[in-house]
Amino acid sequence: MNLKIQSLDIDFHQLIENSLNAILILGKEGEILYCNKACLKLLKVASPDDILYKNLCVFLPLDFHPICKERLRKVMKEQEILKSIEAKMIKSDAEIIDVEVKTAPYLLKGKVYAQVIIQDISDRKLTEKLLYDREKLASLGQIAASIVHEVKNPLTAVKGYLQLLKESQSHNYLDTMETELEKALETLQNLLQVSKPDLHDEPFVSVDLCKELESLLFLFQEKLYKVKVELDLKDPERKVVGKRNLLLKAFFNLIKNSIEAIPDKGKIRIEHYYDNGSIHIKVSDTGVGISEDKVKMLGTPFFSTKSDGTGLGLTQVFTTIHEHGGDVSIQSSIGEGTVFHVRLPTK
Ligand SMILES: Nc1ncnc2c1ncn2[C@@H]1O[C@H](COP(=O)(O)OP(=O)(O)OP(=O)(O)O)[C@@H](O)[C@H]1O
Ligand SMILES: [Mg+2]
Repeated sequence: MNLKIQSLDIDFHQLIENSLNAILILGKEGEILYCNKACLKLLKVASPDDILYKNLCVFLPLDFHPICKERLRKVMKEQEILKSIEAKMIKSDAEIIDVEVKTAPYLLKGKVYAQVIIQDISDRKLTEKLLYDREKLASLGQIAASIVHEVKNPLTAVKGYLQLLKESQSHNYLDTMETELEKALETLQNLLQVSKPDLHDEPFVSVDLCKELESLLFLFQEKLYKVKVELDLKDPERKVVGKRNLLLKAFFNLIKNSIEAIPDKGKIRIEHYYDNGSIHIKVSDTGVGISEDKVKMLGTPFFSTKSDGTGLGLTQVFTTIHEHGGDVSIQSSIGEGTVFHVRLPTK
């Protein structure tokens, strides 16, 4: 239908077809009867023939099927305009995206259909997650710091009394007790350091990360007979301003993890490049990979799957990078490897 408004001829079909919102029209069982261009693009479907008459559930993870059916029922039977919800959809290439879905009845020639408007909110969700992780870590850092203060003083007192005891009598147990106590105090000190990098009164200096990354590799010399290292260091003239030692420790921790993730032979790749106001550093490995449930735990103090790991390495990485205004994202697949992508703003 064409409607003349002032001097504009509006072709509604063309308007919907080219709308920036992804729009679907569903039949009463959830079968897709119409899909505009934005929706084809959103679901990475080449032509309408690949989607028409399929059920919408084909593009939804299993746990969203009951919600979808219930919403369809409400729209069809009760002709209700539904509140928007957040859901997930599966693209034709199997990638899962976060979406916001609005559903309302659509009446045509006496029949009711469901009109569905879908918006890709993956970027928003990712930003929310990064913010949430950052806040979680910041509060963990605060909790860790206060626990350390509370526990360190009595332990230091015990250590003092132990030393006095040792002066008056000797016993094997006393030495063991002292060593164990020292270990505990050291762990507490490490926890304090990695959880609250802002406690370090290191000055901010200009850091040449390309040069530093190359030097860091020398520290792993004896491991490199089994692990091949590929360096791709672009834009060396771009410098980051930051706390040099903390940043080096963070990249040391990432490289160490990558090497430790490779059981036999394998490869790690370190990339450095500048893009859009930030330096990007990617540390990739062909190691064992990390399962999805464990990815959520990364950065939590003391989370480790290694018999001799402290689980403080990544806590240091996350807190340091966040303190420098950057962020860290992780991609991993079991048996194939892992990529840690660090972004550090240059200003
Ligand atoms: N590149 C990686 N590949 C596979 N798993 C990894 C990788 N990096 C980290 N992990 C997992 O995350 C866990 C936590 O890492 P983190 O560096 O915090 O502690 P850790 O390496 O166990 O101990 P530490 O750093 O004190 O030696 C590791 O135990 C490991 O399971
Ligand atoms: Mg580690």
